[in-house]
Amino acid sequence: MSNMKWMGAGALAMMVAFWGGAPATAAAQQGQRGESAQTAAQGDPTEHMTPQDINDGKLNFQGSCGECHGVDASGGVGPNLHGVVRKRGPQGVFSIIRNGLPGTAMAPVSSLNDKRAWQVVAYLKTLGPEPGETTVNGDPAKGKELFASNGCAACHEVDGKGGAIGPPLTGIGSARSPKYLDEVLVDPGKNPPADPALPDRRMWTGYLMTKVVTKDGKTFTGVRVNEDSFVIVLRDMAGSYHTINKADVQSIDKEFGKSYMPSFSRLSQQQRNDLVAYLMTLKGAQ
Ligand code: HEC
Ligand code: HEC
Repeated sequence: MSNMKWMGAGALAMMVAFWGGAPATAAAQQGQRGESAQTAAQGDPTEHMTPQDINDGKLNFQGSCGECHGVDASGGVGPNLHGVVRKRGPQGVFSIIRNGLPGTAMAPVSSLNDKRAWQVVAYLKTLGPEPGETTVNGDPAKGKELFASNGCAACHEVDGKGGAIGPPLTGIGSARSPKYLDEVLVDPGKNPPADPALPDRRMWTGYLMTKVVTKDGKTFTGVRVNEDSFVIVLRDMAGSYHTINKADVQSIDKEFGKSYMPSFSRLSQQQRNDLVAYLMTLKGAQ
């Protein structure tokens, strides 16, 4: 019995040797292409990249990531990426490009093949740890007071406490950039985060304000929680859910650019900086 097991393992080892050997030969024949495919499976392929690769990586980044992370990677709706390769390692960043971060707006980026994705990692590696993170010119302690005195907690949860009309902010400091957070305070509905849990995530958010009028003349207003071919589900300001059959609906108006969150443009720039500095300290689990 144990002998059989041993033989099985031996046969397996031989097969591994065989299959492991075949691509190496192919790689030798294919030259560079095979070589980079092999290094991709091990170590850090960015080590072998040329200035041309890094430049291509920059262009790939601008095309596929810049919309959310800023064209210079200093952040937007997504976080600042300066220093991220040091933080997560080259494989870690590559894996985020391939697999995304489940449950967030960071979806797998399928528009880049593996080689291009590695070029992006190589480009990110050249960026210093600076811009974004360290440029918030505010006082987090004052920001925390402003958070309390402006009623933010009525709608937002931090560390398990607070309302649920808006999204929880427990991990907001690692998910967004300071620039974006300041924009939210001034004009909350302008550039809402895409919601990966809903179809067509680029257009919709979980907090899209929607007005539904039924054929018998009733009006419902709330955030659109869910929608399919048959029903639309709204959650109103009081937190009640309304499930409306589409067969009964006269009109559905999606109010893009509007938000339940009031603008805080009445706060001074310094106060907003303080608030943003506080929000950037919230890096907890989301
Ligand atoms: C649709 C918007 C969007 C696009 C496009 C996008 N990202 Fe992201 N990305 C995000 C958001 C939002 C987060 C933060 C997720 C969270 O933690 O909630 C994120 C997080 C990340 C992180 C983790 C950051 C950290 O500090 O650990 C990396 C790395 C990253 N993105 C790289 C990329 C790269 C590289 C591309 C392009 C190939 C890309 N992203 C494209 C929105 C986007
Ligand atoms: C009346 C409810 C309400 C109040 C009060 C409120 N917000 Fe919001 N907030 C929301 C909603 C709803 C959203 C979702 C964005 C949207 O409407 O598309 C949001 C979004 C946000 C976001 C963006 C979250 C993300 O994931 O990108 C931040 C940051 C934020 N609010 C901070 C604050 C701060 C700071 C205050 C207090 C100064 C505040 N909010 C007050 C309802 C509120």
